[in-house]
Amino acid sequence: MTERTSIHGQWSNRIMFILAATGSAVGLGNIWKFPYITGENGGGAFVMVYLGCIAIVGVPIMMAEIMIGRRGRQSPINTMRSLARDEKTGSAWVLLGWGGVLAGFFILSYYSVIAGWALSYVFRSAVGVFNGVTADGAHSIFSGLVSDPERLLAWHTLFMVMCMVVVARGVRHGLEKAVRILMPALFVLLLVLLGYAYNTGAFQQGLDFLFTPDYTKVFYNCDFLNGVENCTFDGGPMLIAMGHAFFTLSLGMGAIMVYGSYMPKHNSITGAAMMIALLDTAVALIAGMAIFPVVFANGLEPGSGPGLIFQTLPIAFGAMQGGQIFGTIFFVLLVFAAWTSGISLIEPAVAWLVENKSMTRVRAAIWVGMSVWLLGLGSVFSFNVWSGEEFQLFGNTFFDLLDYLTANIMLPLGGLLIAVFAGWYVSRNSSVDEFNMGDGFIYKIWRLVIRYITPVAVVIVFLNAIGVIDWLLSKNLLW
Ligand code: PFF
Repeated sequence: MTERTSIHGQWSNRIMFILAATGSAVGLGNIWKFPYITGENGGGAFVMVYLGCIAIVGVPIMMAEIMIGRRGRQSPINTMRSLARDEKTGSAWVLLGWGGVLAGFFILSYYSVIAGWALSYVFRSAVGVFNGVTADGAHSIFSGLVSDPERLLAWHTLFMVMCMVVVARGVRHGLEKAVRILMPALFVLLLVLLGYAYNTGAFQQGLDFLFTPDYTKVFYNCDFLNGVENCTFDGGPMLIAMGHAFFTLSLGMGAIMVYGSYMPKHNSITGAAMMIALLDTAVALIAGMAIFPVVFANGLEPGSGPGLIFQTLPIAFGAMQGGQIFGTIFFVLLVFAAWTSGISLIEPAVAWLVENKSMTRVRAAIWVGMSVWLLGLGSVFSFNVWSGEEFQLFGNTFFDLLDYLTANIMLPLGGLLIAVFAGWYVSRNSSVDEFNMGDGFIYKIWRLVIRYITPVAVVIVFLNAIGVIDWLLSKNLLW
């Protein structure tokens, strides 16, 4: 096969690819979502299942996505079309690219609304709104924001414009420059916050919550009825842990694939995938270790949902020396983490428009950005005018539904199909050639895992979530 080149350009070097992909991976998922879903799903056991998913499902699929992207060197839709043709297999694989574009639209539409919260907190923090704030005060500041559709809309609009501007200017100049400075800075700040949490007096309690596994919490829902413990099976938390592994690593929708398509030829895919997964996991765990002690020290509820960090961190900032500056910087960095992820969510669609509709990047970014913005109105209203029961489906708002649908269904399904394509349809010769590490031990392990272990693990978690495994067990049909 003749070597393809990307019309969109290429990262300057190996480190830039790692930083850009880490920029995509590290985002609201790590600092906003991971702590609150861990809080809602019982803590330690959930974290263990999540870490298992990163290792068994996340890293192999990340390697597969980068490999496919670099071989195709186009937007995920055209990459899938070209590779399916190269491998002489069905053209239906192109649907995987389309599914990814749709998932990117859905995710960014609500992601941008949350990033808007972070933007607004930059300004609140800077003017000293959090100085000396109590838990109740932080709670009412947060509810004041989300119950006002106009303010949410303004911040959502600003964040979308920020994403459009960078994508329009080409990923290389805007993004490369930003991630080089911002990612290490975010890391340092998290460590400082961790230092603060260490001194809250509830550090141990926070660690216990994060790292002591009580597996009944992942598999069972237990209540005490008249003093008798009554447990029912619940596979939901396992699906949420797996879904989050996909979400946090930006897998299953072509973001890493499109970044892989800009990766220089001879860079190691395995090394990069491991590094990205490691950095992403480290940021999530440090965020958890920084946040839960503050939650416990202030007698707050770890399972309080999407508002968790916006109601806990301000208390810490309000109480600490220099908290006004420090809090401002923290929210600025949270915005930048979200920004470098937001860009990767629309890059697949923008690259496709440039390739297929001969649009300039500027036009493509405007079209995609405006569509996502429009869809985002549903999430803006989910917190206020559409928060009533008449606008809910099974007790979930539009925002909840989009979040559940993308993270727990679309990304794992996309990832499963990527694993099947890379393991079963991309020939051994092609993948050995693209990984460029020979047909040795590491390659053999990857191939074994991506063909058998990853797909089976994803399917089991799905079946578990809809209760099939429990039903088979209750009928003694499994063993
Ligand atoms: N990985 C990002 C986060 O953890 O915030 C979110 C994300 C970005 C998901 C890009 C999917 C994606 F393609």
